Amino acid sequence: MAMWGGRFQEASLDEFRAFNDSLAFDYLLAQQDIAASRSWAIGLAEAGIITAEEAALLDGALAELATEVEANPELPLQTKEEDIHSWVEAKLGEKIGHAAKKLHTGRSRNDLVATDLRLWSKLNAGLVRDALQSAIGALLTFARSHYGLVMPGFTHLQRAQPVLVSHWALAYVEMFRRDLSRIDDALARMDVCPLGCGALAGTGVLLDRVTVAERLGFAAAARNSLDAVSDRDYVVELSAAASLCLTHLSRLSEDVIFFCSGEAGFFKLGDAISSGSSLMPQKKNPDVFELLRGKTGRVLGHLVSILHVLKGLPLAYNKDMQEDKQGFFDLMATWQQCLLVLATVLPHLSVNAGQCRRAAELGYSNATDLADYLVGKGVAFRDAHELSGELVLKASAQQKPLEALSLTELKAVSPLISDDVYAALTIEAGLAKRAALGGTSPEQVGSALTAAEQWFAKLSGQ
Ligand code: ARG
Repeated sequence: MAMWGGRFQEASLDEFRAFNDSLAFDYLLAQQDIAASRSWAIGLAEAGIITAEEAALLDGALAELATEVEANPELPLQTKEEDIHSWVEAKLGEKIGHAAKKLHTGRSRNDLVATDLRLWSKLNAGLVRDALQSAIGALLTFARSHYGLVMPGFTHLQRAQPVLVSHWALAYVEMFRRDLSRIDDALARMDVCPLGCGALAGTGVLLDRVTVAERLGFAAAARNSLDAVSDRDYVVELSAAASLCLTHLSRLSEDVIFFCSGEAGFFKLGDAISSGSSLMPQKKNPDVFELLRGKTGRVLGHLVSILHVLKGLPLAYNKDMQEDKQGFFDLMATWQQCLLVLATVLPHLSVNAGQCRRAAELGYSNATDLADYLVGKGVAFRDAHELSGELVLKASAQQKPLEALSLTELKAVSPLISDDVYAALTIEAGLAKRAALGGTSPEQVGSALTAAEQWFAKLSGQ
C-alpha cells in the first residue's frame, strides 16, 4: 500500500508506477533505512512520543529485518512496494502490526532518503578508500621491484629523457595520494545527519536530533532543514573524486597499453591477465587496461548527469532527486572494482629491462645532457642548446647517436668539448644529474620510494 493514499480516489496507473517507483534500485539502501529507522524510533521514545515498549517492539522487528536482508539482500525485490522506505514500513506492519504505523511520526521520506544515502556513501567511500590503498600498495611494490631499471620518458609521445621505471610508477602514486585525500575531504564534509529535518521545514516532534545523528555514527546533525533534504553535494563530490581518480587510472592504462605494444615492448602482460584474438593467433591484447580506460568514460558520464539533475532544482526536495541513485551506485561500484583490478593485475606486468634500456638510448635523449655539459664548461644555456642541436643534426644525418660522433666532429661545433664528454653522454650520467628534489636520479627516486613506503606503512597501520 502506498504511504500517501488518503487523498486519492483512483488507483495509480501501472505505467505511472513503473516510472515512479524506485524500489528496483533503492533496495540497496535497505540496511541504511533500517539503521536510520532504529535510531529514529529510539529518538521518538526518548521524546515521549511513543512508549518504551513500542520502541522496543520496533527496534526488535527492525533488527530482525536487518538479519533477513543480510541473508538475502534482494528480499525487497520480491514485493511491489514503491520504494525502500515503504518496504521497510510494510515489513514492520507484517511483523508487529499497529506499532509499525507510529515509526513515521515526525519524519519524511525526504529526510530519510537523504540520511540513507549519506550512510551508504560513507560506507562505500570507505570501501573505495580501501581499494585505492590496495592499488597504491601494488604500485609501490612494482616501483620497489623494478628499482634501478631505466626507460624512455616521453613528451608529445616523442622520446624526451630517460627516467627510472620506478619514477614512472611513483608519479601515479602521487596522483592516487591526492585522490585519497579528496575522499577524506568528502567524507569529513558529508558526515552530517539530515534525519529530523522532515519534509523540508523541520520535524514537528521536539526530539534530540544530535543524539539521533550520533547513534548513526554521524559527527553532527544538519543545521538547516531546507538544505539538509535537498543537499546532494556529497554525491557530486564523490563523483568528482571518482572522475579524477579514474582519469588517473585511465592515463596509467594508456601508458601501459603503449608500453606493451609491439612498437614499444617495454612491458609485458602475463597470460593470466591478457586475452587473445578469435582470428589472429599471434595476438595478446591488453583488454584489462582498455576496460579501465573505457570505464572511466562511464564514470565521467555519471558526474555530468548528477550535476545536470541538480542544476535547475528549486529548494527543497524535488522528485528529480530520485535520479541521484542509479548512476551513483554504478559509479561507486565501478570505481572500487577498477582500483581492485589494478591492484590485482600489476603483479602480472613485467618489465623488459633490455628493451627499455635500448629504447632509452635512442632518439637523442641525451641531447639535453650535452647542452648541460657545455653549460658546465661555461657556455650560456641558450647557446649550449643551439650547439647541442647542431650536433644532433650532424649525428642524425649520419644515422648515429651523439656519443658515436668523433671528438674531432664534436670539437668542430664547440672547441670546449673534450674527451670527458663521452662519460657525460651515458644514461647513468644523465640520470645521476637529475638529483634535485623530485628528479629521476636513482638517489632521489630511492629516497622518494622509501618515503612513500613509510607513509604507506603508517597509513595501513603496519
Ligand atoms: N524514492 C524517493 C527518492 O529516492 C524517496 C523520497 C520520496 N519523497 C517524496 N516526497 N516523494 O528520492
